[in-house]
Amino acid sequence: MRRLHLNAVIYGLGSHEAAWRLPESDPRAITTLAYWADIARTAEAGGFDALFLGDVLALQEGAARHLSDAMDPFIILSALAAVTSRIGLIGTASTSFDHPFHLARRFASLDHISNGRAGWNIVTSSNALEAHNFGLDDMPEHTERYARADDVVEAVKKLWDSWDADARIADQASGHYLDPAKVRAIDHVGPYVRSKGPLNVPRPPQGRPILAQAGSSAAGRDFAARHADIVFTVQSSIDEAKAFYAEMKTRAVSAGRPPDSLQIMPGIIPVVGETRGAAERRLADMNSFAVPEHLLAKMSSFLGVDLSGADLDSPLPEDFARADANQSSQSRVTVLVSIAKRDGLTLRQLLLRLASGRGHLLAVGTGGDIADVVQEWFQAGAADGFNVMCSVMPGDLQAFNDMVMPDLVKRQLRQADLSSDTLRQRYRLTGI
Ligand SMILES: Cc1cc2nc3c(=O)[nH]c(=O)nc-3n(C[C@H](O)[C@H](O)[C@H](O)COP(=O)(O)O)c2cc1C
Repeated sequence: MRRLHLNAVIYGLGSHEAAWRLPESDPRAITTLAYWADIARTAEAGGFDALFLGDVLALQEGAARHLSDAMDPFIILSALAAVTSRIGLIGTASTSFDHPFHLARRFASLDHISNGRAGWNIVTSSNALEAHNFGLDDMPEHTERYARADDVVEAVKKLWDSWDADARIADQASGHYLDPAKVRAIDHVGPYVRSKGPLNVPRPPQGRPILAQAGSSAAGRDFAARHADIVFTVQSSIDEAKAFYAEMKTRAVSAGRPPDSLQIMPGIIPVVGETRGAAERRLADMNSFAVPEHLLAKMSSFLGVDLSGADLDSPLPEDFARADANQSSQSRVTVLVSIAKRDGLTLRQLLLRLASGRGHLLAVGTGGDIADVVQEWFQAGAADGFNVMCSVMPGDLQAFNDMVMPDLVKRQLRQADLSSDTLRQRYRLTGI
């Protein structure tokens, strides 16, 4: 039977732009281990397959009015490996700024200390502020970033494969530590990176940690079809999601892979309440804490258009934004523009959609309502699972556990408990 996969995606104090301002939040908690351990234990207790940490390598524009500081995901996930035992630990790392040797070594290490629970969310990075932090004037253009990502991921895979699983003999009696025939140099010489290898970490328990990918432009889809196990995608309508799903499965097959080896997981933002009215009030309450100046700056940056003088309450003009001209994040632009057109939004309304939903599927209602949406998308061939992006941590994660998870189990879409398999086995991605 097909099993619905669910990851708990954590950005800062929650996916809502104003999460840090809610009275229930402690904005300073983000730099404490207690905060992260609490989330990880809550997600594990709820039965989430994996914790998924996003990351950006810069303090972002508008940081004065918005929480955008972020600690290193490797450090957080390493600590969380010690306080959890079954949940997957997926962390974001950039192919533009990290060397493949570092990437291969860190994820292999995380995989060992977590007994096969590590995953890498591969990003190319898209923000010029990140480029500035690494000595560049701007990000390389989109096509080049993906070409480099391809090269880096090839090298990382080779480094993981540079050890056979049984290379470590560790025979104390004879004094043979490893079998030299089973540990090889990789001699990777690519257009962007080189690495001789072998890796100095034995083959990870999963063979290769899970690979997730989140860009949905043409280059991003092509990349995902070749390398990813999980695609994290922004979809806000079931028809578009079905088309994306079908296209990605076809691309996987063209790349010589079975369709199930590529799991499509759109983001979903659940706003759950005991009643629909309670859920709607919760959303309105969260939105009332959003800072409009910050949202306008963020939208300007997503769209690559200066919106500072724009009228917030007029309908958006026809040529509001052209995704193909955007170098930063084509998929996000496409989704935001299509939501605005579909729902006839003003700029102010679009800003609130950005604050609460970031362009993802926003599901507001009772546990049963949200389980209905999840089930419909799963069974209609629009998703293999969801990246669940709760609004304010840890309260909304606990609410999802309490109100949505039991419904999903009752409908036999998932089991109540996590198996103790590796993350790759739980995802039934056993082709390595
Ligand atoms: C759902 C989603 C989540 C993302 N999360 C991150 C992230 O945490 N860090 C990051 O640097 N980029 C993130 N990205 C950006 C992508 O990795 C990619 O660099 C960007 O979307 C440009 O690629 P595209 O034009 O193919 O979409 C995310 C993108 C999407 C669609």
